[in-house]
Amino acid sequence: MRSHGQPAWELLLPAAGAPARRRGLALQEALRKAVRSGRLAAGTRLPSTRALAADLGVSRGLVTEAYEQLTAEGYLRSDRGSGTWVGGAARGRHTGSTRARGVVQGPVGGETTASGPVSGVSGPLPGGSGVRVDFRPGTPDLSLFPRSAWSTAQRAVLARLPHPALGYPDPRGLAELREALAGMLTRRRGVVADPERLVVCSGVAQASTLLGFVLRARGLDAIGVEDPGSPEHGRLFASTGLATVWLPLDEQGLRPEPLAGSGVRAVVVTPSHQFPSGISWSAERRAALLDWARAVDGYVLEDDYDGDFRYDRAPVGALQGLDPERVVYAGSVSKSLAPGLRLGWMLVPEALLGEVVERKRTMDLGNPVLDQAVLAEFVARGAYDRQLRRCQRAYRERRDALLAALAEHLPGTRVSGIAAGLHVIARVPGRYGPPERFLARAAEAGVALRPLAEYGTERPGDGDVRLVIGYAHLTPSAVAEGVRLVAKAVGGG
Ligand SMILES: Cc1ncc(COP(=O)(O)O)c(C=O)c1O
Repeated sequence: MRSHGQPAWELLLPAAGAPARRRGLALQEALRKAVRSGRLAAGTRLPSTRALAADLGVSRGLVTEAYEQLTAEGYLRSDRGSGTWVGGAARGRHTGSTRARGVVQGPVGGETTASGPVSGVSGPLPGGSGVRVDFRPGTPDLSLFPRSAWSTAQRAVLARLPHPALGYPDPRGLAELREALAGMLTRRRGVVADPERLVVCSGVAQASTLLGFVLRARGLDAIGVEDPGSPEHGRLFASTGLATVWLPLDEQGLRPEPLAGSGVRAVVVTPSHQFPSGISWSAERRAALLDWARAVDGYVLEDDYDGDFRYDRAPVGALQGLDPERVVYAGSVSKSLAPGLRLGWMLVPEALLGEVVERKRTMDLGNPVLDQAVLAEFVARGAYDRQLRRCQRAYRERRDALLAALAEHLPGTRVSGIAAGLHVIARVPGRYGPPERFLARAAEAGVALRPLAEYGTERPGDGDVRLVIGYAHLTPSAVAEGVRLVAKAVGGG
């Protein structure tokens, strides 16, 4: 494998020399960078895992893992028999150069609706009194909030922050927080994170409205949303004057033809762990979406709402890493720490940056300084990584408890989606009752459930009950009790 006359493994040598604990991730990041920068050009054949491992002096497992990870993310392609080579999806040049403005004027076609379906995803849970077990998705376990580590960070910040730091902040956010987040996101999510392009904001919600206002001001009047998808997206964009166009998904991601025919020039997607279906987008669909965005001179909002939680393997890196000039990446601490903090971030393409920052400035003059400084301290101390590991352990256990309880009490139920995040999709066979009766009986038994039908337009009509079950906020015993109550109410096992 040669590129620009230099053996590719030379590019990877610093990563191969990283401390053992970080070596695998360092190797993946070095490979991503080499592909993005074009030093490994599209079509370049990679050496066999055995040969590269020998050249770098690392274990073959690390190289295999790196190839698999980057193939899943769309940087590499592989074929049994013909090996692994550099794919054409990445367009990562990130030089700070200004590019042509992205979105053109004009009406869009396609079927539009004012907003998504009506039920909330993350709002306060209504009718709490009779609810014994609440399986509605959207909330992490708030009792896992790291009060003591947060308070340590808070004290450290109050002790060291100079007076001038309490003035109006840079509307993009505190420099120290943008630095800390850029490092963390590069390492954990495989994004291209320049602190200069990072805007601290009040969650994915504000990232969406900031982008919505900017796109609306540029003349767009609609944005595509996944069907099924988060109802929150429709509501947020409606508040900026953008209509929502439903775009159908299949088991790989957004279907390319309806997307191409929709007439929209912007979409919001959840490729790492699609909400709510739970699929992870395939590498082909990731690449196809970026091809589409380039072809229509449009933008993709990547909502990475729970991308950190994956229980069977390392999380697939974010789409933004493949084309930081077309993808606006948004994330927050809402699933990892607490939604009430209202702290999030967005990575913005150069062409949109000025407009997004100006919107942020006129909206609220920036996020609260102390909260930002505390989060920066918390990330820099390694406490954020520790929190994610702790949640990951708890949530995996709860997911396992849910799957076991469904198998025991509602046999025949199929659970779909990758082992990730804070919820699963369960398809309960029709023999437990038609959906309306099933939900009514569960509610009478004190179990709050949310049907998949509330998240999209599809109504399969096969009599099965499709549910979006949130489990992260419930202990394993509460999960088991909830499923047992439902089974008893609907005449299951
Ligand atoms: C898919 C999805 N995206 C975004 C949000 C909003 O997140 P944030 O609290 O970061 O604003 C939610 C809220 O539950 C959600 O479910």
